Amino acid sequence: MSRTILIIGIGAGNPEHMTVQAINALNRADVLLIPIKGEEKSFLADMRRDICERYLTNPDTRIHDYAVPTRRADGSYDDGVHDWHHAIAKIYEDLILEVSAERDTIGLLVWGDPMLYDSTLRIVEHVRANGRIAFELEVIPGITSIQALCASQKITLNRIGLPVEITTGRRLSQGWPEGTDDVVVMLDGVEAFRSVTDRDAQIYWGAYLGTELEITLSGRLGDISETIAETRSRAREANGWIMDTYLIRRSRGPETEGET
Ligand SMILES: C[S@@+](CC[C@H](N)C(=O)[O-])C[C@H]1O[C@@H](n2cnc3c(N)ncnc32)[C@H](O)[C@@H]1O
Repeated sequence: MSRTILIIGIGAGNPEHMTVQAINALNRADVLLIPIKGEEKSFLADMRRDICERYLTNPDTRIHDYAVPTRRADGSYDDGVHDWHHAIAKIYEDLILEVSAERDTIGLLVWGDPMLYDSTLRIVEHVRANGRIAFELEVIPGITSIQALCASQKITLNRIGLPVEITTGRRLSQGWPEGTDDVVVMLDGVEAFRSVTDRDAQIYWGAYLGTELEITLSGRLGDISETIAETRSRAREANGWIMDTYLIRRSRGPETEGET
């Protein structure tokens, strides 16, 4: 008999992003593991605890915090990430063996959705490969920060029949991606919107989406870029951290392809 690991998408900031499926998964778990790290992460950990307080009705579910190690900055980025993932896998293994029994169900609460810029699935596969713990895996989807952005900005993600590229700030700062006029940017530590040369593009920006700190701005890039940069640094200073996501849409010809 093996354990079950539930990777539960909890939404991107608003506790009401929790789906009925996610709430049911929370209550199926014998053990919930909650990561703790840094100031931004303490907000995220509080949010996870708030979710447990609101939705956890199973009195037998046990909650365990664990400290997430920091990724080393020396050496290559890929090596750093590889080592970091293996270190977290080891923490999962030790903790799961310590706090759960065979046949127990273990829930991992993942910000937004587990398929988007999140490595929990990859890390759990390291745990499987290490062979110390046998488990079934279930993934419960969640509302992503991209969905939260589009809802707050009241926009569709794609234009009719057109592709959208999802990328990081670091990549956008190296140049606009080929083959698309619509780019969603996440994990932007470099204010990459400033490097976009088409200043007539539209930007739809959102920080702390879904939370009580939410800020949104939109407009012509050339007009609003500096306002976003200033708003961003003021907010980061006031709160000690920031999480933002944005869509940049370059102008193009008339929309022709059908879609309802
Ligand atoms: C490690 S990724 C996690 C993404 C997450 N899995 C999701 O589905 O949205 C973290 C990045 O997601 C974006 N993000 C997550 N939550 C956000 C929020 N509430 N407001 C704005 N951006 C957010 C930011 O770009 C942040 O740098």
